[in-house]
Amino acid sequence: METVSTDVVIVGAGGAGLRAAIALAETAPTLRIALISKVYPMRSHTCAAEGGAAGVIKPDDSFDFHFHDTVGGGDWLSDQDCVEYFIHEAPKELLQLEHWGCPWNREADGSVAVRPFGGMKKQRTWFAADKSGFHILHTLFQTSLQFPSITRFDEYFGLDLLMHDGRCRGITAMEMRSGELRQFHAKAVIIAGGGAGRMFPFSTNGAIKTGDGIAMAYRAGAPLKDMEFVQYHPTGLPNTGSLLTEACRGEGGILTNKHGRRYLQDYGMGPETPVGKPQLKTMELGPRDRLSQAYWHELQKGNTVSTQWGECVLLDMRHLGAKKIRERLPLVHELAESYLGVDIIKDPVPIRPVVHYMMGGISTNTAAATPLPGLFAAGECACVSLNGANRLGSNSLVELLVFGRRAALSAIDYLQTVPALDASSLNAAADTTRQRIEALYNRNDGVESMSGLRREMMDTMEKNVGIYRNEAGLQEGVNKIHELRARYTRVKLTDRSRVFNTDLFQILELGSMLDCAEAVTVGALARRESRGAHQRLDYVDRDDTNFLRHTMVHRQGADLPRVDYLDVVITRSPPGVRDYSGDHK
Ligand code: FUM
Repeated sequence: METVSTDVVIVGAGGAGLRAAIALAETAPTLRIALISKVYPMRSHTCAAEGGAAGVIKPDDSFDFHFHDTVGGGDWLSDQDCVEYFIHEAPKELLQLEHWGCPWNREADGSVAVRPFGGMKKQRTWFAADKSGFHILHTLFQTSLQFPSITRFDEYFGLDLLMHDGRCRGITAMEMRSGELRQFHAKAVIIAGGGAGRMFPFSTNGAIKTGDGIAMAYRAGAPLKDMEFVQYHPTGLPNTGSLLTEACRGEGGILTNKHGRRYLQDYGMGPETPVGKPQLKTMELGPRDRLSQAYWHELQKGNTVSTQWGECVLLDMRHLGAKKIRERLPLVHELAESYLGVDIIKDPVPIRPVVHYMMGGISTNTAAATPLPGLFAAGECACVSLNGANRLGSNSLVELLVFGRRAALSAIDYLQTVPALDASSLNAAADTTRQRIEALYNRNDGVESMSGLRREMMDTMEKNVGIYRNEAGLQEGVNKIHELRARYTRVKLTDRSRVFNTDLFQILELGSMLDCAEAVTVGALARRESRGAHQRLDYVDRDDTNFLRHTMVHRQGADLPRVDYLDVVITRSPPGVRDYSGDHK
């Protein structure tokens, strides 16, 4: 197996991976950086982000507001030292992007424009029309090109971490176009590979979001934190799951049921606001978990609209007018037209909640370090405990930047301390990967189909671990996912060719998703309370006495994972009541 020697490997070239690479290259120009990604960087899922990125910039906003919005929105499961660091770094990162060329929308006076977003007391979401992720990713990508120390390995599929004496010393990966394996020897690894929303059938996530980085760390012994908290975005297209950004509501769009009623007023989210008036903190701009739960209740009451794509509610933006829609929401206009044949200028568009984001992930501290020496993680694949039990819309694009950079700085510090290693001592670990892949190619007793197992996994996640959960459903989910993991050991590789073998990649991705799915179900079963995105019909209240703590899931080979807990860091906001009622000032 060919060996690539480098100093730092970054797995994933989306927002967090590119930001980490730039910070490494700028801060320590002599370091060699290998940036590995299973897709070309501009195809990373960051590209699909629409609405914007949160950072305090306007005079009537404050760090205090951003802190409390984030902590309360997260139902007090955020580590408050982490939130503190994040809110102060956020505007610096967004301004840095501006200096690198990101075309943020402007006010008439030339200052940066912001828009309202869910669960925020003040307007602080910077945006570039409804293509914010595209512009951020493009800005980072073009900036990264100026650093010769960054070597890209596009279309390389990351496989296993190389561990030695308890330290992470590199990874193995497959060059996808040839099927050849490589071992990357490094002093530190940063995982920035995104979430695993694709384990659910309806998701805003691109097909690439299969949790490969999360599973890689988990297999190597890193615990996964708070995996049971899976965010449903309230407004996805009912057929493709594509996102219709929260900015639709930030710009004034309203949600109605089949009776034409703005039903959110029936779920403690404030009085009805006259159409066209600014809406802050209540109604359509309540937090995502509450809005998705309200949809579920409307469904139970028979108040949803039956469409050819299933049960929906309606997102009505007609009153915004063609000019504003074309200027502020051009992608939404195009998506609704292309996928549903609905012109949002003339008609309301049917929507339903879809899986959007995982609050949980590889456990990291505020310095983006995992418990495994030499392994760092940032972005959606990591749980740095910024988002708690429910992420605030538009915090995640900034999370990529703040903690991508932070992971790089932490890795640089770590490099000063790491002992030298004879490279040949990693060969045995790398050979384990080779054997794993060859076993798939050589197996003649494979009986399970990849797509069949994947369908069963997705259906189980939707049915048993959805917006509302209960003990019996979760136990069934745990049993089923565990069974699927066992059956996965007999999965059949139909295509035995080596060149860009998508059958093989989908089998590997399925393995990653099953690991993630098991951590989600086991964590959800053990958490007997309702908090943020984890809502249990049998334990309806938040239970701070027993569950104001992070769930830590540890892999135990083929057995069910082990669960233990970690205290939440509370600095200045004791657990309180989430309040989204009140006026719209
Ligand atoms: O609705 C959106 O534009 C999504 C933003 C986010 O998840 O932060």
